[in-house]
Amino acid sequence: MAQQFEDRFHRKFYYLRLSVTDVCNFKCTYCLPDGYKPSGQKSSSFLSLPEIKRVVRAFADCGTSKVRITGGEPTLRKDFNEIVHSVAATQGIEKVATTTNGYRMEKQVAGWKDAGLTHINVSVDSLDPRMFYQITGENKFTQVMAGIDRAFEVGYEQVKVNVVLMKDLNSHELPAFLNWIKDRPIQLRFIELMQTGEMDDLFQRHHVSGVAIRNQLIANGWLLKVRNKNDGPAQVFVHPDYQGEIGLIMPYEKDFCESCNRLRVSAKGKLHLCLFGEHGVELRDLLQQDEQESALIERIQQQLQTKSVSHFLHDGNSGMTPHLASIGG
Ligand code: 5AD
Ligand code: SF4
Repeated sequence: MAQQFEDRFHRKFYYLRLSVTDVCNFKCTYCLPDGYKPSGQKSSSFLSLPEIKRVVRAFADCGTSKVRITGGEPTLRKDFNEIVHSVAATQGIEKVATTTNGYRMEKQVAGWKDAGLTHINVSVDSLDPRMFYQITGENKFTQVMAGIDRAFEVGYEQVKVNVVLMKDLNSHELPAFLNWIKDRPIQLRFIELMQTGEMDDLFQRHHVSGVAIRNQLIANGWLLKVRNKNDGPAQVFVHPDYQGEIGLIMPYEKDFCESCNRLRVSAKGKLHLCLFGEHGVELRDLLQQDEQESALIERIQQQLQTKSVSHFLHDGNSGMTPHLASIGG
């Protein structure tokens, strides 16, 4: 194995978030409120299957054991199952996850499982179908819920569900969400709304800290789970009466970045050291032949030495990131 990816702050990177498309068919208010629009420049295509294989191979050779396939909506790729299959077949990769809006999960999830997908995150921003429609721009609540049920049927033991927390929209739904996970092995993850470059006043209107939820959970007997070495930044709470778990992702909290263990590659082959505040480093020229792997690894190692200690979001930095569909959340 080549030298493990590590930065100047002794953070090790075992987790790659790989975007395979910027395209999405939803219009989430916090992400693509006007829907997906191809970027102005004569847009080059998204990473091909051979390019994906090469980038994953290089990361795996440097200690990466988990890959999350993201987007946009990754399952819009016609070759999604082949992508999953080739990531899963890469030596060293133990976990292959995806984050999906779930719109066709009911039909497709059995195929994902067969291809080797080990973990699923699906977004459900409200349990009220009308609010779900208002937030996502798509009237697909029932389909998404059926998709989650189907995931359990085909053998997933746990499904993670993302909820972007928004004041006045879904912040009052905690009791309904808790009721929902009482008898379901769902890890429900409340994510604080993050400010991105193209956001209008949505952030000012709807950002709310996860602290109030944390306090309610603690007051009701929920306990913070002990962190494993490789865990990401979510604070996970468990309760003896609930099969489900609650995760809180609070990027505006001090020290959020200390547990950073992930690197990102965009759908057009740029390395992003952080969600926020940088342009990304071109990798695609080194993804054209298997023989380029050592040059690719060298470029990534070099860039890692420039990774900052924090995203500085608390200073109002929303960086260069126009919306998270461009870099995979
Ligand atoms: N703030 C917080 N989370 C976001 N996501 C996308 N945009 C934002 C944002 N501005 C996350 C959501 C969604 C996933 C695809 O990306 O969790 O479920
Ligand atoms: Fe699509 Fe996900 Fe962005 Fe919603 S958050 S618009 S589902 S990429």
